[in-house]
Amino acid sequence: MKLGTPFAPTATRVMLLGSGELGKEVIIAMQRLGVEVIAVDRYVNAPGHQVAHSAHVIDMADGPALRQLIEHVKPHIIVPEIEAIATDVLVDIEHAGTAEVIPTARAAKLTMNREGIRRLAAEELGLPTSRYGFADNLNELRMVIDGGIGYPCIIKPVMSSSGKGQSVINEPEEVEAAWKTAMSGGRVSGDRVIAEELIGFDFEITLLTVRAVAESGNIETYFCKPVGHIQEQGDYVESWQPQTMSDAALQRSQEIAGNVTDNLGGRGVFGVELFVKGDRVWFSEVSPRPHDTGMVTMVSQVQSEFELHARAILGLPVSVALRSPGASAVIYGGMEARGIAFEGAAQALRIPQTDLRLFGKPESFLRRRMGVALAYGDNVNEARSRAKLAASKVKPVKN
Ligand SMILES: Nc1ncnc2c1ncn2[C@@H]1O[C@H](COP(=O)(O)OP(=O)(O)O)[C@@H](O)[C@H]1O
Ligand SMILES: [Mg+2]
Repeated sequence: MKLGTPFAPTATRVMLLGSGELGKEVIIAMQRLGVEVIAVDRYVNAPGHQVAHSAHVIDMADGPALRQLIEHVKPHIIVPEIEAIATDVLVDIEHAGTAEVIPTARAAKLTMNREGIRRLAAEELGLPTSRYGFADNLNELRMVIDGGIGYPCIIKPVMSSSGKGQSVINEPEEVEAAWKTAMSGGRVSGDRVIAEELIGFDFEITLLTVRAVAESGNIETYFCKPVGHIQEQGDYVESWQPQTMSDAALQRSQEIAGNVTDNLGGRGVFGVELFVKGDRVWFSEVSPRPHDTGMVTMVSQVQSEFELHARAILGLPVSVALRSPGASAVIYGGMEARGIAFEGAAQALRIPQTDLRLFGKPESFLRRRMGVALAYGDNVNEARSRAKLAASKVKPVKN
């Protein structure tokens, strides 16, 4: 693939669908290679808008609006950064050869709905997952749970992310509340839910898996060191790399990740979420794009997951080498306000071997991720305490 000059006829034009904190870093990596980046999001001044060559605001779940924008901008490559996209439009665009979709339109379509990816993983590929079932109403949900999933279990809208609309329940009395939570927390109202057996894992990992063009000209699969993380209310609060695990579990994890990413195809980074207990591994879900827990790679790897994504997309060689054990800790908004400020950045950065990302989101919510503290160290424990301490020093304030 030739790399051109932005705004010139030679330009390599890449359109990001979704321009949050992850998209922002992908855009910066692309910018460094002279790629012309068009950032799209549903609100004005999204993080990625602020570092792109041009910015557009549309509802990406609105098929006609999305198609019109793509036809107007004429990108060579489309990079979905979020799940809430009219993916049928991407299927058409890919089919017509108008633009390339990363990694593939099918991957974007399958992973936007928990049912698509779960059925593929468990029923077609035969990968180990939690027991699961789907329901369209409260009665069906009760039947699905009584029919084999049992308690404790976890109920989620099929279309949701960051833990929205999820609840863990322990007894039949809690089913109705879980149903209501799912109905109000999904991306689309009145949607289906998935009920899953709750897995009592020792820890969970994101196995960042890269499909990139090797020297042979063929696509090869590369595995980053496993990223360990802690989730609160289904949202990540802390991550680190590498997560220690048995050789058997690591090998099994790579087999599972290789299997599912081979099937999804294309080029780019995938975040394969796995649950681990001893040598046992369960597939949970996969993002066909960089993963929020993978922000740690900005300090722990020679090439961050964002650089890896940019390189893989552009057909360039990749290295998944670890630079140092590292960790990330999330900084929340802690308030509902627009245009907030942050105090304590200097105190945070005075902690040795730390770094900071403030995303520049125009509006803060109580539990909105506004930034992340990063740290490296001699080992994961040291990196984790530094990252947590640094995050705690950064205080969102109302001007
Ligand atoms: N079946 C399960 N068993 C145990 N924990 C689960 C299960 N499903 C989800 N979780 C927990 O909830 C988190 C969020 O669930 P996930 O399915 O990844 O939703 P999201 O798409 O919002 O990230 C997981 O990272 C894990 O900590
Ligand atoms: Mg997840």
